[in-house]
Amino acid sequence: MVTGGAGFIGSHLVDRLIQEKPNKIVVIDNLFLGQLENLEKAKKNFGNLTILIRDASIFSVVEEIIAKEEVQTVFDLATVPLPTSYVQPRWTYENNIRIVLNFCELLRQDKFDFYVHCSSSEAYGTAQFVPMTEDHPLNPTTTYGASKASQDLLIQAFDRMYDFNFFIFRPFNNFGERQNDQAYARARASDSNLFSNVTNKYSIQFCKKHGIPIDWKALSEQKGRDLFHIARHQLLSGNKEEAMKNFKRSFRLVPILGKFKSLGGMAASIIGLDLERMARSLGRPTER
Ligand SMILES: NC(=O)c1ccc[n+]([C@@H]2O[C@H](COP(=O)([O-])OP(=O)(O)OC[C@H]3O[C@@H](n4cnc5c(N)ncnc54)[C@H](O)[C@@H]3O)[C@@H](O)[C@H]2O)c1
Repeated sequence: MVTGGAGFIGSHLVDRLIQEKPNKIVVIDNLFLGQLENLEKAKKNFGNLTILIRDASIFSVVEEIIAKEEVQTVFDLATVPLPTSYVQPRWTYENNIRIVLNFCELLRQDKFDFYVHCSSSEAYGTAQFVPMTEDHPLNPTTTYGASKASQDLLIQAFDRMYDFNFFIFRPFNNFGERQNDQAYARARASDSNLFSNVTNKYSIQFCKKHGIPIDWKALSEQKGRDLFHIARHQLLSGNKEEAMKNFKRSFRLVPILGKFKSLGGMAASIIGLDLERMARSLGRPTER
């Protein structure tokens, strides 16, 4: 099951999951920002895709779907994003937390087997040191960021109490086809840092298309954040040397928390992470 599967990253994940030939895929999305057309390709390529326009923050809804569809693995990407948190801070927080609480409760009751949760670098807030590592302090600057940090802490607390089979990953900025105008790019339009080291033509086209000002000076001088192209699984950068440096850094750019069994490795490879390598580079064991 993929929550937020009609959204930007979720729909690409569905496309990728299809390659694993699962028995079935169930998408839950309330279409707050998701769009059914994002799943058109998936519908054509996979006969057993069930799309449910439902609210994952309602416990009884998720409980019923998990039982009825015999869900084994949950990829949880449903989220109300950062910009909304400026206008509806409480609702953003509540929506995001409720979704995670629902899955924690159902995992505790053994209603499904494995929980993959998508967090965000926003849980860290502004970098206090770089490269940012898993143990960078959680210092969110928005209620969206606070919801992402709280989600992670909740899952870890449940795990300590009930021994969960889970993992959490915290991506930094992604962009690509199906990117939602109302999600990240818009909110960060004033943050020239976001695009500061992106000299790739796709990113520049993307900025132009969405009216995001490009800080050309910063672009040539600074080394800011990297962007991850979600469909192509590429970290973008200007030149080859820089790209390699960024590629190496990317193992730090997607900090992961959790306990991995073989399914964890499979799930990580599906979302484009080299889990083994990443865990090694972070000095972490990959098995329990
Ligand atoms: N895009 C990025 O750069 C980025 C960076 C870091 C982390 N993330 C994380 O990646 C995940 C996916 O984000 P995205 O960029 O694809 O955003 P998105 O808005 O395109 O997708 C989120 C989806 O969740 C759905 N949703 C929201 N509340 C829901 C609810 N209660 N029930 C059912 N569906 C609901 C929305 O309709 C939307 O389709 C999120 O967890 C986000 O925090 C994204």
